[in-house]
Amino acid sequence: MEAKWLVLFSVAAMLVALANCQESLKPLVKMVKGKKLCDKGWECKGWSKYCCNHTISDYFQTYQFEDLFAKRNTPVAHAVGFWDYHSFITAAAQYQPHGFGTTGEKLQNMKEVAAFLGHVGSKTSCGYGVATGGPLAWGLCYNKEMSPSKIYCDDYYKYTYPCTPGVSYHGRGALPIYWNYNYGETGEALKVDLLNHPEYLEDNATLAFQTAMWRWMTPMKKHQPSAHDVFVGNWKPTKNDTLAKRVPGFGTTMNVLYGDQVCGQGDSDSMNNMISHYLYYLDLLGVGREEAGPHDMLTCEEQEPFTVSPSSATSS
Ligand SMILES: *[C@@H]1O[C@H](CO)[C@@H](O)[C@H](O)[C@H]1NC(C)=O
Ligand SMILES: *[C@@H]1O[C@H](CO)[C@@H](O)[C@H](O)[C@H]1NC(C)=O
Ligand SMILES: *[C@@H]1O[C@H](CO)[C@@H](O)[C@H](O)[C@H]1NC(C)=O
Repeated sequence: MEAKWLVLFSVAAMLVALANCQESLKPLVKMVKGKKLCDKGWECKGWSKYCCNHTISDYFQTYQFEDLFAKRNTPVAHAVGFWDYHSFITAAAQYQPHGFGTTGEKLQNMKEVAAFLGHVGSKTSCGYGVATGGPLAWGLCYNKEMSPSKIYCDDYYKYTYPCTPGVSYHGRGALPIYWNYNYGETGEALKVDLLNHPEYLEDNATLAFQTAMWRWMTPMKKHQPSAHDVFVGNWKPTKNDTLAKRVPGFGTTMNVLYGDQVCGQGDSDSMNNMISHYLYYLDLLGVGREEAGPHDMLTCEEQEPFTVSPSSATSS
């Protein structure tokens, strides 16, 4: 008798769980000073206006991640078994209450995820012209620089971010970081000791995505917008920006992240590679590349860079 009830109960519980999976989780809602704030469980936690709308797992699911990064676990890839959907969503949970993939309408949300992953895909790809599936199917093939020719220790920062003996600060992560000062700054922000343990980024996919999302959400310098801000329209160009041809959109995200290494150089392969990944992902997500907007929003070929790198500190 009791066993029978137990079985019935577990079946009912399973049905409820299934139903919850299918329709998206309803957020908890409260009003604070006339503003609607929400909390949506682990994925969007902490009473934020951004948690009231769609969250990433509502419109970007495992099969889509698998589509975008179809070749990452083939035997010739260089980080087989490392990157997965779960790490991506776990990392994103920290930034969704701040608007990552949750600003504005669903279409805008999907475009931001495609743009962020377009950067990631192009930086971690091992796809070349002849690769099977085409060169754009090979994002997340790497999680680190394969044959670093140096350890990227800049002595100028020996008091702020001293290099740990025996450790190398070559490229690692979803938007790879290089140099002791970048590991130091990122580690400080994420409260992880990356200066002593840069290898954490090649051991932990959640952390590798998290550092990339932090970079996307954070201005490189004071008085500059973040890549997120220029993409979702939080940033309003000044007169100087307009003169410098910097307009809201994907093109300016490259300017924020890479400055003169990519932008204001005319038509360049590294710039076109990022754009191609973004457009390819828009197509795969069902958004369609026509939603990317006109050419001058996509490119930064004629933009004046936000940042000009000192010739000694280039990372290649
Ligand atoms: C929530 O969605 C509505 C309608 O799609 C949109 O107008 C609003 O800006 C979104 N809220 C936030 C905080 O992005
Ligand atoms: C990986 O990084 C995440 C995010 O920083 C952390 O919460 C988690 O504990 C780490 N996992 C391991 C196995 O260290
Ligand atoms: C605009 O550019 C001019 C000339 O480069 C500069 O002197 C001025 O400070 C800039 N204004 C702002 C608001 O950045």
